[in-house]
Amino acid sequence: MEERRWFKSMTLYQVWPRSFADGNNDGIGDLKGILSKLDYIKSLGADAVWFSPLYVSPQNDYGYDIADYKNIDPAYGTLDDFKAVLDKAHEIGLKVVMDLVINHTSDQHEWFKKSCAKEEPYTDFYIWEKGRGKDGKKAPNNWMSTFPGSAWEYNEQRGEFYLHLYAKEQPDLNHDNPAVREAIKDVMRFWLDMGVDGFREDVITQISKRRKKDGKLPAGNPLMPASRGMEHYNNGPHIHEFLQDYRSVLAEYDDRFQVGESPMVNPKTALKYVNENRQELDMMIGFQHMEADCIIIPWVHKKFDLVKLKKVYYNWQTKLYHRAWNANYLESHDQPRIISRYGSEKLHDESGKALAVMYSFLSGTQFVYQGQEIGMTSLDYTHAPEGTDPWAQFKDISTFCVRDLMRKFGFKDAKILKTAHTAARDNARTPVQWTGGKNAGFSDVEPWFTVNPNYVGVNVEKEEADPNSLLNFYRKVIALRKKYADSVIYGKFDMYLKNDRQLFVYDKTSEDDKQKLRVVINLSEKSVPRKRVAALIPENAHEILSVYEGELGDKLRPYEARVYLLHK
Ligand code: GLC
Repeated sequence: MEERRWFKSMTLYQVWPRSFADGNNDGIGDLKGILSKLDYIKSLGADAVWFSPLYVSPQNDYGYDIADYKNIDPAYGTLDDFKAVLDKAHEIGLKVVMDLVINHTSDQHEWFKKSCAKEEPYTDFYIWEKGRGKDGKKAPNNWMSTFPGSAWEYNEQRGEFYLHLYAKEQPDLNHDNPAVREAIKDVMRFWLDMGVDGFREDVITQISKRRKKDGKLPAGNPLMPASRGMEHYNNGPHIHEFLQDYRSVLAEYDDRFQVGESPMVNPKTALKYVNENRQELDMMIGFQHMEADCIIIPWVHKKFDLVKLKKVYYNWQTKLYHRAWNANYLESHDQPRIISRYGSEKLHDESGKALAVMYSFLSGTQFVYQGQEIGMTSLDYTHAPEGTDPWAQFKDISTFCVRDLMRKFGFKDAKILKTAHTAARDNARTPVQWTGGKNAGFSDVEPWFTVNPNYVGVNVEKEEADPNSLLNFYRKVIALRKKYADSVIYGKFDMYLKNDRQLFVYDKTSEDDKQKLRVVINLSEKSVPRKRVAALIPENAHEILSVYEGELGDKLRPYEARVYLLHK
């Protein structure tokens, strides 16, 4: 029997603070705004909230570049504001999960400044190497960062290069140095002492870099156009040792949890990390299920492929069963909105609901990203006003990095813009649409980033008032997850029709076999004749959820989804 733990059954709501709610009307989301919306988060049925970084940061990567781990960015408020949020969250029964970004800091962090000056004990806090070439100004090797370009930046003061797997303003910490690990453990204790319940650990599988005998980093596969060198740092040589070290801090406290963001992970690798005996991560945020319409990243777009998606779910659901734990999500601050990707903006509510059904009944912990529950969509950037710079509509550093790389490969801006429209992370970062009023109720003043013009039809206020809205559907789904936790959260997954391009049909059966649900979804814009699924809808099936009202007719309409209780 799977051990029951609080974090396994939770629905975790992700807040990206800058765009969540503006409490002091300066156009930027903040902790006062968050405080005013905690009851709303709770009303969804959520059990916990994860905050994308709130720490002091120059915001080059919107908080994923931390300049002070032990304080709150002034744009978001103060430590006292944070404590007020933490207390209120706990009071109403919400756990609080902090983002912990430890692969890198900001180049504005004191540690980095002191490292540049070779001030002890910070000299080896980062990954420094001498350059190549006569003048030593050629990068130490061919690694490229994830935000394309060289992964090395020259620092005049030290006369050496430092490694940055992300932007040049995000130097990588040297976890091989025990003093770095102690400093991080101290940061963890700071937040755990305050009472936070766990961490979401950023790109955590990348913190250990393979070194050659001489201590330098080996060259990467020259064929890789971005993230070159990844074979030497993804799941690197000391990763398990480091994670166990960090985990030991959690063990000093009662019942805390951590989830690791894990680029390129597959079920086989996940089993090495999410393993009771190893004491490392409680679950991993993988990406394979986000690749059903692209090759690795949304910038390399392909038509949505349900068969591919089902295969991924099948693998994760069956291979981790009773051995590890899944983290199920469809959106985050890094992913374009799901209705615009796997669903249909035309059939907004129907596809939003079908997608909610699809992933909410899978075993594992459920993640919901701000605005997902009301069906926020990606922004259409292709219509910049005449005479304006179309790139001024974007804010995310990685959008510009990919644009520059594509320009280098000879792509024209019109094509790049079109791709950015569907692929940029900016799509997830528009202000949350609270009302149909001014600035979508996000702020009284003009928000820091464009509000999606569809806020008039898609907003919390309107959906609160409509019992059939996507928002209220999410509430229903989350409540059903709890009611049928034995099968939904902890149950065994079986799938039918694996090669069907429109239908996703699966069963969830409780460990004691007493409770069984069947989930039947037409995840396409076209109808499916009922006879294709007739055999899968037994006479005695009791329906517990449906996207469309009324009985199932002779066909499953576009995005029609139904959930049946087969026997108790
Ligand atoms: C993670 C974050 C992303 C950030 C990157 C570098 O992928 O989710 O937003 O840009 O790490 O920290």
